[in-house]
Amino acid sequence: MHSPSVSSVRFVGVHFKGLLARTALPPSAASHQQRGYCTGSSPVAQTSSRWATMIATATVRRLGINAPAIVVVRLLSGTANSSSTLSSTGGGAGQGSEISSWNKRKPQCREHHQLTCGQEQQAHSPFFHVQHHQQRSMSTTGAAKKGLVAVEEARRFMVDCLVKSNTPPAHAKQQADLLVEADYRGHFSHGMNRLEMYINDLHKNACNGAAVPAVLNETPATAWVDGNNGLGAVVGNFCMDLAIRKAKEVGVGWVCAKRSNHYGIAGWYTLRAMNAGCIGMSMTNTSPLASPTRSKEAALGTNPISVGAPGKDGDGFVLDMATTAVAVGKIEMQRRKNEPIPVGWAQGPDGHPTTDASVAFDTACLMPLGGTELTSGYKGYGLGAMVEVFCGVLAGANYATKIRKWTHAGADSEADLGQCFVAINPACFAPGFKGRLSDLTGILRNMPMTDPNHPVLVAGDPELHHMAMVDKEGGLAYHVNQIKTCTELSERLGVKPIEVI
Ligand SMILES: NC(=O)c1ccc[n+]([C@@H]2O[C@H](COP(=O)([O-])OP(=O)(O)OC[C@H]3O[C@@H](n4cnc5c(N)ncnc54)[C@H](O)[C@@H]3O)[C@@H](O)[C@H]2O)c1
Repeated sequence: MHSPSVSSVRFVGVHFKGLLARTALPPSAASHQQRGYCTGSSPVAQTSSRWATMIATATVRRLGINAPAIVVVRLLSGTANSSSTLSSTGGGAGQGSEISSWNKRKPQCREHHQLTCGQEQQAHSPFFHVQHHQQRSMSTTGAAKKGLVAVEEARRFMVDCLVKSNTPPAHAKQQADLLVEADYRGHFSHGMNRLEMYINDLHKNACNGAAVPAVLNETPATAWVDGNNGLGAVVGNFCMDLAIRKAKEVGVGWVCAKRSNHYGIAGWYTLRAMNAGCIGMSMTNTSPLASPTRSKEAALGTNPISVGAPGKDGDGFVLDMATTAVAVGKIEMQRRKNEPIPVGWAQGPDGHPTTDASVAFDTACLMPLGGTELTSGYKGYGLGAMVEVFCGVLAGANYATKIRKWTHAGADSEADLGQCFVAINPACFAPGFKGRLSDLTGILRNMPMTDPNHPVLVAGDPELHHMAMVDKEGGLAYHVNQIKTCTELSERLGVKPIEVI
């Protein structure tokens, strides 16, 4: 995992009573911190609570705040104000009851947290902000916070279930690492929520948990891989590692796989490239779920694209997005929670947008990124089709309507998904890539806000916030229905039930 140096973190934010103050860090304190953009099993931002307490105390004194308790300390990179969040109880009179209040205050809202200017606090410091939450919800809600599960326990449970489903432990571990990372990053739709589908595929022999990918054709910069119908994470890790190796040798590695399976969050693979100092790109085709503009029926999958680029000291740009208005998992999660979906996510059977998550799920016809033709949905449709060019078509895998449907019950036939993994070595281009990348993210994050409640973020920031929150809360907040599914799985497979904290 990436272990960034510390020189760019020069600010600290201190949360208390729902407020966030920002001030410069003493250089000695900065040298104690650590940041990173990828986590796997390790937290993205780590620091000793002793240090966090010290900084919180110093900051409170510096700002002259009469604070009863410090809630959260955030490390702010350079002039940018979006980064890691660290909890602390220090600095005030020791009334720690509000420690986690900002994380839990509006639990039904999206799990990343926003900074805004607060008038009253500006009297103390120009750096004061009041924290708010974004409107669009992520795939978990406050209701979900009934089943807190430690990250390692989630991983243990996944590995146990996969091993009981004819998967060698090493492959089970790779798959579980991917799923845990999805939950950790706040994409609950692509974590534990997917486990049952993988298990069902494995039991129906629609996927082979023991399969090892093989290279079919190779040049110094390219490789065509047969995934041999293996688990998506096993195929994806193999391909991205190969692409990285080629990028280190010849500047770029472009690897395409056929006969793969659902590979989870596309960002997992670009983070892998970033951790090796490369720019990463990854795409996959998926079962048809989205209508081309002007069609009532689905022909393309949610076909995600991820591009990740490393910046300085753990900063980075991690775009990871479906080419539909949302990933289908988000609709699944709304359905699981019996909550509606926003207009523009999906069509009903009549081809018009629906807000009913169950109708949307049953119709299985998402809208492309951009929505209708009037709102430029054809651009999302174009991106989804582009993914097919690089994945299904280039790899000689299934594509578009040729890909079989996939449900919670699992599939009866092989998916033969096509996937694409690219690594680019920035050292082959203009020197100083990471510095300029961080300069770019700094410029973007510091742009004047349209709404003072919602500061500008760059791709990957919401996920960083979510990871910090998981660290702070001490576990992954699964929806009760998800825990129920896990319990059923444990009974069915005869594995130790998942332990809820
Ligand atoms: N394997 C598959 O078949 C498959 C299919 C579809 C999606 N997925 C995965 O599902 C996950 C969720 O996809 P999604 O499209 O719903 O993601 P999303 O809409 O939550 O986020 C998309 C991107 O936008 C960024 N972002 C969010 N809010 C932002 C803001 N205010 N400012 C700047 N950037 C912001 C995020 O960091 C992310 O990079 C992804 O990890 C994706 O790879 C997988």
